[in-house]
Amino acid sequence: MRGDQTAAWQGLSELAKAFSGFDLRDAFAADAKRASRFSQEAPGVFADLSKNHWDAKVESQLLALAAQAGVLTHRDRMFQGEAINNTEQRAVMHWLLRHPAEGAAAQALPAPVKAALNDVHQTLNAMLSYAEKIRLDTQITDVVNIGIGGSDLGPQMAVMALQSYALQGKRFHFVSNVDGHELDAVLKGLKSENTLFLVASKTFTTLETMTNALSAKRWFEAQGGTDVARHFAALTTNVEAAGKFGIQTCFGFWDWVGGRYSLWSAIGLPLSIAIGADNFRAFLAGAHAMDQHFLHADAAQNLPIRLGLLDVWYRNFLHYTSRCIAPYHSALKRFAPYLQQLEMESNGKQVDHAGQALPYGTSPVLWGEPGTNGQHAFFQMLHQGTDVVPLEFVAVKNATHALPGHQALLLSNVLAQAQALMVGKSDAGGHKNFAGNRPSTFILLEDLTPFNLGALIALQEHRVFVSGAVWGINSFDQWGVELGKVLAKDIHARIESGDVAGLDASTAQLLQRVRAA
Ligand code: F6P
Repeated sequence: MRGDQTAAWQGLSELAKAFSGFDLRDAFAADAKRASRFSQEAPGVFADLSKNHWDAKVESQLLALAAQAGVLTHRDRMFQGEAINNTEQRAVMHWLLRHPAEGAAAQALPAPVKAALNDVHQTLNAMLSYAEKIRLDTQITDVVNIGIGGSDLGPQMAVMALQSYALQGKRFHFVSNVDGHELDAVLKGLKSENTLFLVASKTFTTLETMTNALSAKRWFEAQGGTDVARHFAALTTNVEAAGKFGIQTCFGFWDWVGGRYSLWSAIGLPLSIAIGADNFRAFLAGAHAMDQHFLHADAAQNLPIRLGLLDVWYRNFLHYTSRCIAPYHSALKRFAPYLQQLEMESNGKQVDHAGQALPYGTSPVLWGEPGTNGQHAFFQMLHQGTDVVPLEFVAVKNATHALPGHQALLLSNVLAQAQALMVGKSDAGGHKNFAGNRPSTFILLEDLTPFNLGALIALQEHRVFVSGAVWGINSFDQWGVELGKVLAKDIHARIESGDVAGLDASTAQLLQRVRAA
């Protein structure tokens, strides 16, 4: 049942009315156990949700909402391999990519899912042995991933995040934009005999990727490169198209892996080259541990469920329209852009599963930057602006560098920001007044290891699943990206021909300006 049709939704509306006077400082004063009540361990992470605008009553009503809206049933259907991506008639099984090949859980999978698991492990083994071969190949000094969206953001984010595990002597480049400046700048620093191009595209039809791949191949040939099989590999579900393009080395995946959920598949090849097979397996194991937590932990102590429900409370009942991500680790520089696709492409929908218009808001706007940089830019607005923006801090306890002093300063800052947002500072209502009572979630990792990163990403995937399930939407399609693609094709032809017939006056004017000599 769609969230808004449940009794719990009504209950939450009532609770929200009484909530305008809620103050975090009072809530902590009134409940000595608040910090622990709203904190928990989950695989790879510790999370403190206590500095959020909710209380035990709200949380228990949210849990009732999850039960009444059938979130757990929906979860179970995903883990049984049912076609919950109903508009494309596809199963949603990115979780299978990190499932162990053997063991009781593997045996218990439905037969078709078990068969898919065998394919998963065959491809994984082939991909990891290829990754190891490339790691040993000292002639390959540069790996260029050509892909966009899920075929770029995930591997790019993870390669950067796990840079302290990365093999020395290889450079990784990510080219996504159809803007030739990006590829051109990368190519300028390369030699064809030292370069491996990975053409990453689920569909192998995406305009940006195909344009960049073609230019890369032309550049390679112009440099005298001949051995395409050695210098190009394709990561795709469309092996046939990759073959037609002239790439023989191919690692496949399946239509039941959404692009933004594909980091665990062949799309993870750059990461596996960077960190090696064992570390890549640890990365998968972290995500699998989070899958198990999501599947088996009691809802009240189930971190993806708690976070996803908090997201619904904020969006639909307290009407907060955005969420800021502040990772306090510079290697998590690309974490916010990665999460933007994950959340906004999954849940940025205006109709339910059945295509009926929704009477409530869905995906919040996600944005962010690593701390402490954000503190010297937009945190002003978070502390004193007129809108309440819930923050999600991600901090890592241990550093991998040995520079004295930095880590304690970094951690002091992240703790102080969460504290300052909440406690505020009274200054008679003037410019220096901080109202406080600003909500935040605090996620803490011991170390930024492959296991912990895998768990952290899977946590985010499942919290998006939970809010999407309450909203009754299909979180696994992305029809909203199609119109722009179609119109770009039409405009492209018009840029060649100069034909503006039938265009609106603004588009016609701009087209004429970009064509003018
Ligand atoms: O246009 C959106 C999208 O389809 C994303 O969902 C996807 O991650 C991206 O494009 C890239 O698609 P592909 O991997 O098929 O090139």
